[in-house]
Amino acid sequence: MPEDSPAKKRVEELRELIWSHRKRYYVDNDPVISDSEYDALERELLDLEEAHPEWVTVDSPTRRVGAAPIAFLPTLRHARPMLSLDNTYSLEELREWEERLRRQLGDRAPARLSFSCEPKIDGVSLSVVYERGLLVRAVTRGDGFEGEEVTAGVRTIRSLLFRLPRPIEYLEVRGEVHLPLEEFSRINRQREERGESVFANPRNAAAGAIRLLDPRLTAERRLDLFVWQVAEIRGETMPASHSDCLDLARGLGLKVNRHHRRAVGLEEVERYCREMQEKRDSLDYEVDGCVIKVDALELQQLAGQTARAPRWAVAYKFPARQATTKVLAIEVNVGRTGAVTPTALLEPVPLGGVTISRCTLHNEEELRRKDVNLGDIVLIERGGDVIPKIVKVTLKADPPPERPFRWPEDCPVCGSKLAKEAEEVISRCPNVSCPARLRESLLHFASRRAMDIEGLGEALVDQLLARKMVADFADLYHLERGALAAMDRMADKSAANLLEQIGQSRDRDLSRVIHALGIRFVGEKTADLLADAFPDVEDLMEATEEDLQRVQEIGPRVAAAIRQFFQESRNRDLIRRLREAGVRMPHVPPPRVGGAFAGKTFVLTGTLPGLTREEAARIITSRGGKVASSVSRKTSYVVAGEEAGAKLAKARSLEIPILDEQDLRNLAEKETR
Ligand code: IVH
Repeated sequence: MPEDSPAKKRVEELRELIWSHRKRYYVDNDPVISDSEYDALERELLDLEEAHPEWVTVDSPTRRVGAAPIAFLPTLRHARPMLSLDNTYSLEELREWEERLRRQLGDRAPARLSFSCEPKIDGVSLSVVYERGLLVRAVTRGDGFEGEEVTAGVRTIRSLLFRLPRPIEYLEVRGEVHLPLEEFSRINRQREERGESVFANPRNAAAGAIRLLDPRLTAERRLDLFVWQVAEIRGETMPASHSDCLDLARGLGLKVNRHHRRAVGLEEVERYCREMQEKRDSLDYEVDGCVIKVDALELQQLAGQTARAPRWAVAYKFPARQATTKVLAIEVNVGRTGAVTPTALLEPVPLGGVTISRCTLHNEEELRRKDVNLGDIVLIERGGDVIPKIVKVTLKADPPPERPFRWPEDCPVCGSKLAKEAEEVISRCPNVSCPARLRESLLHFASRRAMDIEGLGEALVDQLLARKMVADFADLYHLERGALAAMDRMADKSAANLLEQIGQSRDRDLSRVIHALGIRFVGEKTADLLADAFPDVEDLMEATEEDLQRVQEIGPRVAAAIRQFFQESRNRDLIRRLREAGVRMPHVPPPRVGGAFAGKTFVLTGTLPGLTREEAARIITSRGGKVASSVSRKTSYVVAGEEAGAKLAKARSLEIPILDEQDLRNLAEKETR
């Protein structure tokens, strides 16, 4: 088809249209067509591109999640360092900052300085580079000098343009990747349902999402980006002030926070800070303060910077959100390991957009130290994290409660005497069959990262325990369809589904089974190491502490816990019963059986010319290899760079194969194909 055919023209027209609607929707918050009309445009473009793959361009709006998963995130150096900010915690400190700044500027400082005032978005900072108007790379801040290349993930951000409206020779903008609060709650709800750990705050969730190796997964978390700086521009003149830079970025269709304001003189800055602090809870993203920047770029240059932060900018951090409320009750919960933790149930109080009605007190010692009891009025505080803490009691209950809370001596669930290990602050219920422990253990056993038994959630486990249908993990494999179907909210179909799921879990690999057992200190990673070292569970059961410690990364504390677990006849019996129930515990070696990396241990030494240590490590681990820090007979390869010393010598004496960077790359290359 000729280049100027109507279809080709339509493709171009559609791209322009889609970009402009995306901008109206995601950047301006002002859509002019319905979602379904928009979807129809994307569909039409996708269809045309499918029919004419030769017309697909990297900047087509359909290429948002186009990239395939990558093996690791390469490290890139920033053209100029991405600095951090100094913090101030009061308006007083902010004034002191301005005085220092004035001294620095000397007689160049006007009577009233102009500032750019912006919300400080609690996210992850990012540099985004456009060349000839095309998005070419995005790099995280990292240590300020070099960061990780996250271009594929960043392309999933819906408000971000792949192509600027004009082909500016070179443009670097910097900004904050963040998760809108609603999206953050959605992700955490989903993780809870799947039995995964929840994120403490939106920043952690955003940082995790942007670094995922599979852009399709990143796209599932709807990240957003606010641009807060134009770092460099070539081919056009750099505006004279920071505010003008932000206007330039906004004019190019990049998303700049709309609460940005220019302020003349410090009084206006202070007013801005007060106003933002009042607004913070009405925003749909987390803001932890304001950033105040000298507006004139010339004065910025004059003020200069320290190694860590510019002198021309400062953060004004908001205080943690606080509220007072009453303690209605103190509840103690028994976890999977028997740990007893107190939780205060509070009179519900709104705090930064969420209603708080409970608050953990961590352990007995903290409860005593803070002297919290029923009826007390407490001051609670929430930083950027969702979980609040009790700062202190502000008013003791008067009169004191008739029946004050006392730390229990016995497990509130099974009545066993609570025990406390020597240096520990945590009391534990020592009874492994305690129903509370059993409940949490069963939930852990069934969770996604352990045996992955879908459908075996809290409601069901509670019923199974109440009806005494299970007393340990092995009983799950003897459940009968009829009995299951008779339970609340279960029908024949759901019972059959659950049995199907339980049946499938019989084939889970050994490392998952080890993790599922819930041995103290043995998480997923340790379980992997153990399964590699003891591919037959019988060997693991017989392993002495010494044997266990021979496994890389397993120390005396973990070895002792594992030994103790398998010494208990009850646990040995459990393994035997699991086996009898058909749980096979096969050991599936790390990915790519027989590959050059699978199951091999690498030691890195010296400086590699073109890879940082982290990059080299990622090349190895992402292909199923392990990286160890010291050379021993177990080492498969030593990767040596410049100035490799003792480790290289030891590798030679043990006749361990030695690779250079190119050898490593060649091995990896073969593996990728
Ligand atoms: S300016 C040299 N502006 O806060 C300029 N930073 O605590 C340095 N941040 O690393 C940054 N919102 O990730 C700037 N409007 C804003 C910001 C902002 C959030 C982050 C940024 C920075 C961190 C420092």
